[in-house]
Amino acid sequence: KLVPVILCGGSGTRLWPRSRASKPKPFLPLIGNTTLFQATIARCPATDGFDPPLVVTGAAHLAHVEEQLGNTAGSQIIVEPSARNTAAAIALAALRLPEDAIMLVCPSDHHIGDTKAFAEAACTAAELAQDGWLVSFGIEATAPETGFGYLKRGEAIGDQAFRTAQFVEKPDLERAISFLSEGIYAWNGGIFAFKVGDFLKELESHRPQILAAVRDAVAKGHEDGNRFHPDPQTFATVESESVDYAVMENTSRAAMVPADMAWSDIGNWPALHVARDRDEQGNATRGDVELVDCQNVLVDSDGPRVSVIGLQDVYIVVDGNDIMITTAAGAQKVGKLFGAANQ
Ligand code: GDD
Ligand code: MG
Repeated sequence: KLVPVILCGGSGTRLWPRSRASKPKPFLPLIGNTTLFQATIARCPATDGFDPPLVVTGAAHLAHVEEQLGNTAGSQIIVEPSARNTAAAIALAALRLPEDAIMLVCPSDHHIGDTKAFAEAACTAAELAQDGWLVSFGIEATAPETGFGYLKRGEAIGDQAFRTAQFVEKPDLERAISFLSEGIYAWNGGIFAFKVGDFLKELESHRPQILAAVRDAVAKGHEDGNRFHPDPQTFATVESESVDYAVMENTSRAAMVPADMAWSDIGNWPALHVARDRDEQGNATRGDVELVDCQNVLVDSDGPRVSVIGLQDVYIVVDGNDIMITTAAGAQKVGKLFGAANQ
């Protein structure tokens, strides 16, 4: 049994104004016509041996999840009464699955350009998880990003995987630079393969209080069709910690599968720009847009006609009454605009 566990929690504030509290990043057709959430579901088809997906999401996103799942046969949804981060979200899924099932944990807000490479890595990861490894997907590190986890490549396991000699979540810039120069660190792609029983055992030994509280919330929860609702009062007491800190940094059974699959977490507008189709000048446009003498410009308008002359390396997004214009440096801080007034 290989179950895609789809995590749907974040808001994608750096993609404002397209990403809103009411319609966050996973549910937007940012690349092509399908949304990141739909593409995540589509990457795990029954024809590749996957069971129907188990989606873990907050109550606020439930309507989007249901609409975009459509009639995906056999899908299940766990509705979190509050957001308690990924250790708790994955524990909820684990406690609803048989002990010997393999979970492929997938964030729903990433883009993967090469789905064939993803399928191959998923297959390798599932086999390793079957053997008791807690598996991360390793992405080639190309910049000293501080928003990612880093996997230090250890000894080989077979010819497509390695032990993770060290897992470092979100290092500071100095450490990230040194990891990059050492050349044996990959980024953690945020996709994991675990055998349910093994994950629960590791959570039990490193964060017993998280497991106990989630277990209690599940025991007191209720089913409603294909939805499961953990008990809100109990779930609210669960400590909020990511699986990276809670389990992956601590386990001695960590392995990694290097995956060269044109992965991007679409963390901001420049990242989305790179993932979209661009013309020979490096421009990517959507909507009614005219560019003259522009290079490396992204314009995305849902209505007004936008005309730009003589600019390079700028990002222009129009959404309803909001217009956002920024540079590559400014794009890192767009989340600051995502205030209460702008949601
Ligand atoms: N259901 C649910 N509930 N999902 C959640 C919750 C939650 O409380 N919190 C986060 N998620 C989802 C997010 O929507 C996202 O799809 C995924 O879990 C990862 O959470 P992020 O908040 O985006 O984590 P991150 O980007 O800071 O770091 C993780 O991903 C990086 C790669 O993108 C880590 O795993 C890093 O190590 C990794 O490099
Ligand atoms: Mg993320």
